[in-house]
Amino acid sequence: MTPNFQFQLASVANQIETALERLLPHPVGEQAVVAKAMRYAVLGGGKRLRPFLVVETARMIGGNIESALTVGSALECLHVYSLVHDDLPCMDDDDLRRGKPTVHKHFGEAIAVLAGDGLLTHAFGLLGEETAHPDSRIRAKLVCELAQKGGVSGMIGGQVIDITVSETDRDEDLITRLQEMKTGALIDFAVRAGGLISGADEMTLNALSGYARDMGLAFQIQDDILDVEGDAALMGKAVGKDENLGKATFVSLLGLEKAKEMAKGLGEQAKGHLAPFGEKAQTLKDTVDFVLQRQH
Ligand code: IPE
Ligand code: IPE
Ligand code: MG
Ligand code: MG
Ligand code: MG
Repeated sequence: MTPNFQFQLASVANQIETALERLLPHPVGEQAVVAKAMRYAVLGGGKRLRPFLVVETARMIGGNIESALTVGSALECLHVYSLVHDDLPCMDDDDLRRGKPTVHKHFGEAIAVLAGDGLLTHAFGLLGEETAHPDSRIRAKLVCELAQKGGVSGMIGGQVIDITVSETDRDEDLITRLQEMKTGALIDFAVRAGGLISGADEMTLNALSGYARDMGLAFQIQDDILDVEGDAALMGKAVGKDENLGKATFVSLLGLEKAKEMAKGLGEQAKGHLAPFGEKAQTLKDTVDFVLQRQH
C-alpha cells in the first residue's frame, strides 16, 4: 500500500462529510425528527469506502470530482439506509453501529424505518441534481443503475437471501451469490458510477465491474472474518452476530485460514482487472490492500 493512501482516504472522507452535511435534509417543521435521525445515521462515522471508490474511479479516468462527490454522497445515503434497516430488531437486531446506539435505539423503530426510507428516497433525489452530472442522460443512467444495484436483484435481494435461507442450505455457491448481491452490487455501482460520470466506454465499465466483483467479495469475507475475530470497540458494532443468527459464511464453511486465503486471492484477481489503467490505478489497487487489512 502506498504510504499516502490512508491520508487520501481520510481526505476524501472529509470532503464527503462536508458534502453530506450540506446535502442532507435539515430538521424543520413537525417532521424534524426524521431529518435528525437521517443526519444522526449518516454524519460522523463510517469508512466512506463506497464514495471513495466513486471519487477515485472518476479521478483515475479524468472525471469531474465535484460530480463524484454528489454521486458518492447519494450512494452513501443508500448504503446507510441499508445499515439502518439491517440493524432493526426484525433483521439483525443490533444495538450499536459506527460506535453509537443504532437509529432505532436512539429514535425508536418507526422513525428508524422512516429515516431509512428517507435516505433511500434522498439518494435518488441527489442523482437527479445537476451537480451529479450536467448531462441528463448520464443522470438517468445513474438512477437506473442504482435502482438495479440497490434493488431486488442487488442489495435487497441479497439481504432477503441472507435472512431467509437456513444455515444448512447454504453452500459456497449460494454464499457467493448472496454476498455479491448484498454487498458487491453497491460496490459495483460505486466504480461504474465513477466511470459513467467520466465518459467511460463499455469495455472500461466491464473492467471496473470485474474489479468490483472480486473486491466486493473480498470485502464481505473480511466483514465475516471480523465478525469472528474482530474487536467490537474498534469496529463500533457487535461481533459474533453471524454465528448467533445461524448465518453460514465463508468463515464457518471454510474456516478462518482458508477464508483469509480466499480473500487474498480475490484481492489479487481484483487488481488484475485494473491492468488496462496502468499506473493510474494505484489508488484502486491500494484500496484492495486496505480492504484486506482493515480492522473495522
Ligand atoms: C458494512 O459496511 C456493511 C457491509 C456491507 C459489510 P461498511 O463496513 O462499509 O460500513 P461503514 O460504512 O464503514 O460503517
Ligand atoms: C449487511 O451485512 C449488508 C447490508 C446490505 C447492510 P451484515 O449484516 O453482515 O453487515 P453488518 O455486519 O451488520 O455491518
Ligand atoms: Mg445483515
Ligand atoms: Mg448486520
Ligand atoms: Mg457482518
